[in-house]
Amino acid sequence: MAQTAESLQPTKRKSHSLPYWVEPTFTVVALGLFGLYTLWLVFFQSSGQFHNYLSPFFSPTESWGIKVLPAIWVLWSPLLFRATCYYYRKEIYRGFFHDPVSCAVPESRKYYFGETRFPFNWANLHRWFWYVAVIVLVFLWIDAVQAFIFNGHFGIGLGSIIMLINVSLLTAYTFSCHAFRHLIGGGSQKFSCSDGRPTTRYKWWNRVSTWNENHGTYAWVSMFFVWFTDVYIRLLMNGVIHDVRFF
Ligand code: FES
Repeated sequence: MAQTAESLQPTKRKSHSLPYWVEPTFTVVALGLFGLYTLWLVFFQSSGQFHNYLSPFFSPTESWGIKVLPAIWVLWSPLLFRATCYYYRKEIYRGFFHDPVSCAVPESRKYYFGETRFPFNWANLHRWFWYVAVIVLVFLWIDAVQAFIFNGHFGIGLGSIIMLINVSLLTAYTFSCHAFRHLIGGGSQKFSCSDGRPTTRYKWWNRVSTWNENHGTYAWVSMFFVWFTDVYIRLLMNGVIHDVRFF
């Protein structure tokens, strides 16, 4: 098909209306507050359960005899998974280290070693934390199903819906991960069968790539929703609010 003069014009870049420092500032405030809330849970809260609703910060409840604070037992893997996430790393370097604070803004330090030295080289463990995150996800799905069982009978409360949305967002975050994308399609030189058609692997890699495009959004939304879910269950535990039962 012949190309028109219009189609040969360079694509106009979208201009961002917000100043460059807004995103890193948001990162520092959001992650800082989330970190403080998590520390409060670890050191001052011993449980997060209201009847059949279990806070994602306290799942699984089974510790198999390992003696640590309940929140620490549960939190080490999701926190390491998020701290080593490729998307959060970019945001953390920009927000907390100003390294650099944004595109086209000079570096604040003289030498750049990338992630080749301790502790930053530990971020390479992310692909292994992904497997642990999937195990945690299984427990969270079991919790979400149990949130629909009231005294042995099926029911739907506002808490059931919140827990279902929470685990769905965490699933989207986990399976849009760059490491999972590599697991699905990485290391392959050829994505077609002998007859030239795309393989199932290629189709899945394409699908995961589409999810991966929204990974940053899933990262923030899932983090805030985990937070919201815990607050909702904690308010129920303390009698501040009452759960709404739809069924
Ligand atoms: S890259 Fe973000 S969870 Fe893996």
